[in-house]
Amino acid sequence: MSNFSWPLTRVQHTENVHSLKSGRSINDFTRDKSSFDLKTWDGHSAPDSDRWNYNTHYYRLTDTLMPVTDSVLDFGCGEGMLTRRLRARSARVVGIDPDQHSIRAAREQSGSDIDYICGDALEYPFEPESFDAVVSVAVLHHIDAARGLERMAELVRPGGTVMVIGCASSERPRDLVIDLTSTVAALAVLSRHKLWKHPCPVVWPPPASYREMKELAHELLPGSQFRRHLLFRYSISWTKPR
Ligand SMILES: C[S@@+](CC[C@H](N)C(=O)[O-])C[C@H]1O[C@@H](n2cnc3c(N)ncnc32)[C@H](O)[C@@H]1O
Repeated sequence: MSNFSWPLTRVQHTENVHSLKSGRSINDFTRDKSSFDLKTWDGHSAPDSDRWNYNTHYYRLTDTLMPVTDSVLDFGCGEGMLTRRLRARSARVVGIDPDQHSIRAAREQSGSDIDYICGDALEYPFEPESFDAVVSVAVLHHIDAARGLERMAELVRPGGTVMVIGCASSERPRDLVIDLTSTVAALAVLSRHKLWKHPCPVVWPPPASYREMKELAHELLPGSQFRRHLLFRYSISWTKPR
């Protein structure tokens, strides 16, 4: 696979832009699960409503693509901002993430009505088909994406929803055209919003391309909808057949 990327685009759509501003290269942070110090993270002082980044921008898609449910799993919940949002629409919300710093931040910022599990969502012994919805934002590129999609499909009940917001790499000329347009859009958005820094592990660049993720989604979740969005993310939504 050959991946192309505009230099500016790499800055704009990475998961933690502050890493570049700090003078360190993206690679210093890639797969870095230990250098983050929760004590120095100033992100918790902003209310959820003021936290904007390329992931939080697309949280609102869960409102339209995911029906109100009794139970939802936030697969790779990080510090829990989406998990808290999901709680407003679901009676039982579980967030899982293997990163202990993220789970600690999630617990500290959330009420006791959300269950946070520090664990690997691929392995944790959840009951199969035990959730009405499984939602995952910016996680598939951290793991074997095929295993991730299969696992989400396994955990959701028949008739339930799997919803993914993901990051992928550009490889085709048309990807680069979209990236260029996206960079202009991102600069406009960033003139209105301060970028909020999340405290979770970062993997960059994403190993799979948009094309590969689309093919994988159609193969493993037949009937799913794949969309590429303007601000450097794609979405997959799927209803599990009954
Ligand atoms: C970029 S963060 C996104 C966090 C959160 N979903 C958000 O929207 O901010 C990716 C998260 O995936 C988590 N992750 C990586 N491997 C995982 C796995 N096997 N199971 C669950 N989460 C995982 C990481 O620890 C990290 O917190």
